[in-house]
Amino acid sequence: MADKKRVLRSALSYGKLDRDGFIHRSWMKAQGLPDDVFDGRPVIGICNTWSELTPCNAHLREIAEYVKRGVWEAGGLPLEFPAMSLGETQMRPTAMLYRNLLAMEVEESIRANPIDGVVLLGGCDKTTPGQLMGAASVDLPTMIVSSGPMLNGKYRGRDIGSGTDVWRLSEDVRAGRMSASEFFAVEAGMSRSRGTCMTMGSASSFAAVAESFGLALPYNATLPAVDARRQAMAHLTGRRIVQLVEDDCRLSRFLTRAAFENVIRVHAALGGSTNTVIHLLALAGRAEIPLTLDDFDALGRDVPLLANIQPSGRFLMEDLHYAGGLPALMKAMQSLLHLDAPTAEGRTLGEIIGDAECYVPEVIGDLDAPVNETAGIWVLHGNLAPGGAIMKPSAASPQLLRHRGKALVFDTIEDFKSRIDTPDLDVDASSVLVLRGCGPVGYPGMPEVGNMPLPRKLLDRGVSDMLRLSDARMSGTAFGTVVLHIAPEAEVGGPLALVRSGDEILLDGPARRLELLVEDRELEERRAAWERTRSDNGPTRGYLALSARHILQADRGCDLDFLRGASGSTVERESH
Ligand code: FES
Repeated sequence: MADKKRVLRSALSYGKLDRDGFIHRSWMKAQGLPDDVFDGRPVIGICNTWSELTPCNAHLREIAEYVKRGVWEAGGLPLEFPAMSLGETQMRPTAMLYRNLLAMEVEESIRANPIDGVVLLGGCDKTTPGQLMGAASVDLPTMIVSSGPMLNGKYRGRDIGSGTDVWRLSEDVRAGRMSASEFFAVEAGMSRSRGTCMTMGSASSFAAVAESFGLALPYNATLPAVDARRQAMAHLTGRRIVQLVEDDCRLSRFLTRAAFENVIRVHAALGGSTNTVIHLLALAGRAEIPLTLDDFDALGRDVPLLANIQPSGRFLMEDLHYAGGLPALMKAMQSLLHLDAPTAEGRTLGEIIGDAECYVPEVIGDLDAPVNETAGIWVLHGNLAPGGAIMKPSAASPQLLRHRGKALVFDTIEDFKSRIDTPDLDVDASSVLVLRGCGPVGYPGMPEVGNMPLPRKLLDRGVSDMLRLSDARMSGTAFGTVVLHIAPEAEVGGPLALVRSGDEILLDGPARRLELLVEDRELEERRAAWERTRSDNGPTRGYLALSARHILQADRGCDLDFLRGASGSTVERESH
């Protein structure tokens, strides 16, 4: 039973012996709750992004039942509530547009309700980041249970990876190496169990973020969604969150600068998604932790790729789990981590990974025998990206990491789609494909279109990669020599807006340079003549209008400017 000495936040509602207390309790009793559950015990909110429109999270109602078991067992009162679900593969124009709306909803739902701690259930790409951002601005005791990855995809005797093989196979279809009917036959084999993409895409990357922050129990990132041990982990999380409330151990205890450094290093060793950069910058803004885009490059510089997982490697998340999971990977790089970081599980990070073992060295390398010496996120600067741009070298072609070529510019993704396969397109393998109008304001929402398909006529000649630049994002499951998140974006007048087809562009990845090789005076003339691509003023109503006015650029995490920082958990006024 809960320690009654400390008055919990929920007692300000359920502990009142007056008319207000009657109102708070009576309506809850309509759900069959007995009198004595309002005795001052910890009330645990279970924030659930379950939805049949987010198939990656469709099993989270069942997972919530296991969390509840643990909460009851530890003497708490579990109360599940929904939050907007963001299905990456279903939402238009892009799920990212709504990450901040989810974060607002989660923040206000936690703050407005009489709960003392919260367990976040999410998985699909934008759900966990949005939930964690919202929770960080309230700062109650908080833990995470992720959806867990799908089982490995299977097709004709080989493993296939979510997303990564979609990009690969769709290029095979365009190049005539695969028939359309074969392509459709892959669909069911790729997504053959519940759970998130089983490559090191954005969902797996952020589940690993949750685990390396210590906000989720060990193996949260890798245990397959359908493994019974994930249900047991949810049960144990329910027990543990009650203890965190009793100890008043809040989220801010784990969201420290040292923990961010651990997370960024682990993410580099995993070959994690470029999307994580945006989410961590936004989260740091909520938690008021100093963190810049350049920190990702600096902290990842001495970290090689240790996880041999698609899209940077060969294997899939199920394989990573059987090889020892994140604890084994973190042990392999322990000299680079702050081992005294606390975790919600109760032990320090160092204690958790102390007994970890790698069972399959082919899947998890170590610092002496990494999967690839090149890893992490490269942060590029230059006259084309004054606010910065990023690329993921482990997913790029080594021969293109230093490249100079002529720009072929597309003003919108529709422009790109209408022209890329035309036979008379002025393009060769050395060209640099430039796409703009796809930033947080311009699209809006910064879609995952930065890994543009290659021109069909070059595919026919066997070209398999080209340098591509944009103000867009790309799926964490994607690969190629792709420069993303160019800031400021073209729509707000960034230099990307000034590029013309035929201009020379220089990428010097090892020197972190991205330059438009055009005279300054010429650029000034182009700027004076520049007009926005959009003819209207963008969205005029509702959340979209709010977002267009307040969204920050990618180098600051794309949060809304007025959401940075915290509001805390105190609400002074009663409802009646
Ligand atoms: Fe939901 Fe990949 S589409 S995790």
